[in-house]
Amino acid sequence: MSSLFPAARPRRLRSNENFRSLFQESEFTLNDLVLPIFVEEEIDEFVPIKSMPGVQRIPESRLAQEVERYARAGIKSVMTFGVSHHLDATGSDTWQENGLVSRISRTIKSAVPEMIVMSDTCFCEYTDHGHCGVMHGAHVDNDATIENLGKQAVMAARAGADVIAPSAAMDGQVKAIRAALDAAGFTQTPIMAYSTKFASALYGPFREAGGSALKGDRKSYQMNPMNRREALRESLLDEAEGADALMVKPAGAYLDIIRDIREASNLPLAAYQVSGEYAMIKFGAQAGAIDEHRVVRETLGAIKRAGADLIFTYFAMDLALSGI
Ligand code: PBG
Ligand code: ZN
Repeated sequence: MSSLFPAARPRRLRSNENFRSLFQESEFTLNDLVLPIFVEEEIDEFVPIKSMPGVQRIPESRLAQEVERYARAGIKSVMTFGVSHHLDATGSDTWQENGLVSRISRTIKSAVPEMIVMSDTCFCEYTDHGHCGVMHGAHVDNDATIENLGKQAVMAARAGADVIAPSAAMDGQVKAIRAALDAAGFTQTPIMAYSTKFASALYGPFREAGGSALKGDRKSYQMNPMNRREALRESLLDEAEGADALMVKPAGAYLDIIRDIREASNLPLAAYQVSGEYAMIKFGAQAGAIDEHRVVRETLGAIKRAGADLIFTYFAMDLALSGI
């Protein structure tokens, strides 16, 4: 292509702040953000998570007032993770009527009825081995696990969860959960599938946050980060199984995947800026290497630009308080 200069001078539209904002192509607002939270049972004090400066485990006894604070700041949705003291081989606490999963949704919905509660639907924080399902020898038993996911989803919906968000990375989990919800009368409860979930080292700090007992890794069920075609296939399978919305996780290192899925599906698409992404920004800023607020806005803006409609981020509350 021959040079279009001097006719083409892109700098004409960048000369001042008003020009720049007029021609800005993407942006995000509080409406697009979901705040992930960790709720621990049987404790009285907040527990700071060292590898995620600024994030704390919330004592279950303080959950109601904490969520009221989020709502006042303008947060519209939370993704809930339980930190359980009742571990067993299958994670059976998750499908007890009065288990932690149910209590978290009930508490939030009675404190702030309009808060959209997305209930992370998995077992790794409730199993004594830390894997995301029932073990069969050294492997997670897929079909036994998806049956249990259905039970957990029904309990969460019964407790008031607005959205079921299965993160176990089992084949057929969306189909099994949809069938279980429908059979229990929850035909109106949507499924936000963690549809393309990579076996990422960026989940490191989450293990501390969630108190995971995991020894090995999740590579036999979560995806190989090097696979682009398979990433698309995974999300399209979840769409075919009846997912109401799709998700890519992690977000920042997977913008190409977000774009691929955006172009191949008409479902709403979320992206999860995970614990390691949060930690890198926080520690980088603490060391004086980067400007935290600008990097947060740039990374979240880039995730939107890539094609995400909504973003799960631990920065949501900071952004709400600072007016973004
Ligand atoms: C567990 C789960 C994980 C995250 C969300 N749900 C960890 C994992 O899969 O090992 C990661 C979230 C984060 O790192 O912020 N199913
Ligand atoms: Zn899990």
